[in-house]
Amino acid sequence: KTVARLERLARRAAVASYSPYSRFPVGAAVLAGSGKVYAGCNVENASFGLCNCAERTAIFSAVAAGERKIKCVVVYTPTPAPTAPCGACRQVINEFGPKARVISICDSEQRIDTTLDALLPAAFGPDDLD
Ligand code: THU
Repeated sequence: KTVARLERLARRAAVASYSPYSRFPVGAAVLAGSGKVYAGCNVENASFGLCNCAERTAIFSAVAAGERKIKCVVVYTPTPAPTAPCGACRQVINEFGPKARVISICDSEQRIDTTLDALLPAAFGPDDLD
């Protein structure tokens, strides 16, 4: 099913991670409005503040392909317990998927299966600029 496919893609995406500074390879996969899926990894930089998380890489790839809606985000971190997306990524998910399902997977069977709304309540978003 779709979630299982996203999970496989997120794990696989971490293989391409460019993370020489943190040595923390992360992968993400998103289900977009068209039904297509997009993957991404974290991409770090010698100027540390420019590091881009896997979730944002995947979402930006989807948007660059013409997508405007994100339905589900799966993020894989190389940890014994699952970790939820950072604050910056929550805000970016909100832009395209305020109702998105957000799933975190890791190197154990533990998982977090939640929603963007639960992770970022009362979000500032596009409607606030109308
Ligand atoms: N990172 C992600 O890509 N996604 C997360 O959900 C957590 C953090 C990246 C950012 C940085 O490259 C490294 O992991 C350590 O923070």
